[in-house]
Amino acid sequence: MSKDSKTYKDFGKKVYIRTFGCQMNKLDSELSIGSLVREGYTFVEDEKAADIILLNTCSVRNKAEHKVYSQLGSLRNQKEKNPDLILGVLGCMAQNEGEKIFRRMPHVNLICGTREFSRLPTLLEEINGSNKQILAINEDEMVSFDRLVTQRPNRFKAFVSIMRGCDNYCSYCIVPYVRGREFSRPVGDIINEVKSLTDDGCKEITLLGQNVNSYGKGLNGNITLANLLKKLNSIEGIERIRFVTSHPRDMIKDILEAISELPKVCENLHMPAQSGSDRILEKMRRQYTSTHYRELVEMAKSLVPDITIASDFIVGFPGETEDDFEDTVSLMRDVRYQNCFIFKYSPRTGTAATELKDDVPEETKRRRNQILLDLQSDISAEDNKEMIGKSVEVLVEGTSKTDESKLTGRTRQNQIVVFSLPEGRSQEGWPSSLQGKLVNINIVDSTDLTLFGIIN
Ligand code: SAH
Ligand code: SF4
Ligand code: F3S
Repeated sequence: MSKDSKTYKDFGKKVYIRTFGCQMNKLDSELSIGSLVREGYTFVEDEKAADIILLNTCSVRNKAEHKVYSQLGSLRNQKEKNPDLILGVLGCMAQNEGEKIFRRMPHVNLICGTREFSRLPTLLEEINGSNKQILAINEDEMVSFDRLVTQRPNRFKAFVSIMRGCDNYCSYCIVPYVRGREFSRPVGDIINEVKSLTDDGCKEITLLGQNVNSYGKGLNGNITLANLLKKLNSIEGIERIRFVTSHPRDMIKDILEAISELPKVCENLHMPAQSGSDRILEKMRRQYTSTHYRELVEMAKSLVPDITIASDFIVGFPGETEDDFEDTVSLMRDVRYQNCFIFKYSPRTGTAATELKDDVPEETKRRRNQILLDLQSDISAEDNKEMIGKSVEVLVEGTSKTDESKLTGRTRQNQIVVFSLPEGRSQEGWPSSLQGKLVNINIVDSTDLTLFGIIN
């Protein structure tokens, strides 16, 4: 580009970004938005108004990739009408599908993999005005964690990446292939980022990684998740600390003790079991048994009596019989999770499980999926009912989506609470004055998904 030609900074080009997939992807989008804002771009909510459309994608199940292809297909018209429109596919599916995306969707300009995010401003500048196609899926790039902390969707809460990648190679999972080797981020960088976030008004952080329990592997010194939690707990301004996801194989007493002893660390674990059957767990290469998993749950509940636990389950893994499935049902029944994400097995090319025949019929997968959803909903409804009459601490996030006169937030145990003022009481500035504050709420009603209450 010549020196006096217009750059994006002059134009303030409008970017629309849509994020698919997990929290790591949401954070990657947030970091990308930060880096583009620094360069003078603006962001729009309406894709029709955008000069640049970016899809940050997920490959974890076939459906996730399918959604992206179908959105890319429907963007063909917009691109035809406006050939200067830049269309980019970012993240896991970009890494997984690579050039294939150009072949299926020739109107795409950019394929940017999971380790090339930091080059996004440069790549977009290169495409600007030329309408060329760039494939950027280098696996050796260092991921930059440099963050514009003021750029985040919620003033009071933030995700903080403490590790990238995954070395576990669970037999069904594409993540290690698309995200690369596990890599822990240095403690100092994490502390600095958390301090900047608290300076900007952040009250709650959620530490992110595919397997946060193995945090510290590869770093010098005795660095573990428990130590990191201890260090973060002493940062002034932070009120709550959460972490996801916990692989059961790497769950140790130290981490549970940290939850129990450190006042800011919240009493909630996301520890996916995936299955309750040892036979299936072995085929999944999860490296624990259901007995060990149950022992961990017992230990967690005895060290932290008010802990809540969440899980992921896959139904219809190759060879899953009714007996295997019943083991999952009984695990779910015994643990009484606070929340569960349930997925139908979806074979991913290149993963070890594709050597096994995907032999559970779709209809059976659907039925098992529904049984687990119904069971979880019953458990949540019963446990939430038990909360009626109790007082809980809530970090106020904002007004309720369904009723603007009410506020919403979460308990330390990650339950969603919708609440109002007692009848007849008015409060100056309500509801905005309470956002980002910790308040005590008396619970008066509940459903399977929500607790309803009145402020104390
Ligand atoms: N790192 C996390 C999970 C990341 S993927 C962990 O190990 O717990 C999120 C969830 O997607 C997984 O927990 C699993 O339940 C589900 N999943 C992964 N691959 C899948 C596949 N091929 N089919 C169906 N569900 C899958
Ligand atoms: Fe996938 Fe297993 Fe890694 Fe989780 S731990 S991301 S399920 S390979
Ligand atoms: Fe997350 Fe999907 Fe990638 S679950 S790590 S966005 S494959």
